[in-house]
Amino acid sequence: MRLGLAPRSLTIRPLRRRDLRGVMDIERVSYPKPWSEAVFRGELDRVRSSGDRCYLAATSGRTLAGYAGLMFAVDDAHVTNIAVGPAHRRSGVGRRLLAELAWAARDRGALAMTLEVRVSNLAAQRLYESFGFTTAGIRKNYYEDVEDSARDVASRGAGARLHSAPRRARSRGPAVNDASIVLGIETSCDETAAAVVRNGVDVLSSVVSSQVEIHARFGGVVPEVASRAHLESINPVIGRALAEAGLGPHSINAVACTVGPGLIGALLVGVSAAKALALTWRVPFVGVNHHEAHLYTAFLEDPTLEFPLVVLLVSGGHTMLIEMLDHGTYRLLGRTIDDAAGEAYDKVARYLGLGYPGGPAIDALAGHGDPRAVAFPRAMMTREGANDGLDFSFSGLKTSVVNFVRGHPGAATADIAASFQAAVVDVLVTKTRRAAAQVGARGIVLAGGVAANSSLRAELAEACHRDGMRCFLPSCALCTDNAAMIAAAGWHRLRADGPTPLTIGALPNLRLDFV
Ligand code: KG4
Ligand code: ZN
Repeated sequence: MRLGLAPRSLTIRPLRRRDLRGVMDIERVSYPKPWSEAVFRGELDRVRSSGDRCYLAATSGRTLAGYAGLMFAVDDAHVTNIAVGPAHRRSGVGRRLLAELAWAARDRGALAMTLEVRVSNLAAQRLYESFGFTTAGIRKNYYEDVEDSARDVASRGAGARLHSAPRRARSRGPAVNDASIVLGIETSCDETAAAVVRNGVDVLSSVVSSQVEIHARFGGVVPEVASRAHLESINPVIGRALAEAGLGPHSINAVACTVGPGLIGALLVGVSAAKALALTWRVPFVGVNHHEAHLYTAFLEDPTLEFPLVVLLVSGGHTMLIEMLDHGTYRLLGRTIDDAAGEAYDKVARYLGLGYPGGPAIDALAGHGDPRAVAFPRAMMTREGANDGLDFSFSGLKTSVVNFVRGHPGAATADIAASFQAAVVDVLVTKTRRAAAQVGARGIVLAGGVAANSSLRAELAEACHRDGMRCFLPSCALCTDNAAMIAAAGWHRLRADGPTPLTIGALPNLRLDFV
């Protein structure tokens, strides 16, 4: 007999006293000799007082779908109950509960797991066999109605199979559903971030620990320093994200993490942590492309955006114009042929002695300068050339700034910053409008760290207003690297492709797949 998939919104969490009314309803129709409510109360007391019990509830929405219990004794973990309400049978609830118990047993260091099952209950026996249980013997008259019970025991030899059981359950269960809560983790560059997001859109918490101060001393990100800083911050950041969301590990349905692109050592910290948590919590792991995550910041704040969208992705490492045709379907319209916009900001800021990161520093200073003071070049502005004039080049602009400063030592830095910014923004806005017109976009979305730039935001919004084009500007906290966008992109990836195998490693040169 094949078991179906678990209900879409099944949640496994610790059993509570207030579940006991529902427990009694299921218990009465499941066992010839049901336990009394007082017995369950006693068991739940032991969970707290001595910790030698573990009781879990499976809920579907607000309904108790089933429950299960475990009693620890020396090296053994004995399943005391596993019952599913009549309306939820044959839908994988028992499998999920058993998988969860197997992990609880393993966590406690149990070497074997035991349970009793009716000889006539073939479906249950098959389920247990699929988890690695073997029949240890038949106990006469165990049940009151004088039916024999088989005593199934995962022997010491089969103890290792306790480890494989949850994996099997996971691959058969639903990867993600509308009520899924995803923990996102981001460590690709110089931000250690963790966030908890429900339904791919509700941000329950988003914690970002920035290493900016550490790297500012060196004028840029030092990869080895970044890895060590991630290692120190990762556990506290994840802990805070869970605490701020007010959730425990039982509530997390999947763990999403940036697998690339980024610094190899930095990525490895997040990927290792995410895989370990997914394995321990027995939930799916999903590897996320950092660029794709930036594209998803818009959907975090406005899930109603309609395709096709043109996304201007402007970060420290990339400048791309992307047509988003649907979730997960992208077409590259244009890209930088040399420096990224953020990179140009950082390099010019360093040259002007404004420190690291350069974007916010130039942005702030530009507010005090004249953007028309110096007519810096706008490269590749015509429609000619590759990609119908949608490619970018910023390295010439950077050189022009250097040459101008050398030739005009007395020029006001604020004017130079404002004029440099005007040139960058002019190019970005012109090409984004051009791209939107070319593909007949229904909206324009700004993404990536440079999307926090005040002038870019204002100019793009104004241009879109003039064109009658819908424009989406993510809030600044979501523009720079964060984990809420990782959880959102992970949620969509899980729906589309299912979990990522745990054999995947960090992929420093990962690219977006374009159609
Ligand atoms: O997306 P992000 O946080 O990291 C990468 O994936 O690269 O982008 C960081 C980049 C840096 O180059 C930084 O200087 C730039 O975004 N940036 C800004 C602003 N805030 C951050 N650039 C211009 N104006 C800003 N306000
Ligand atoms: Zn980024």
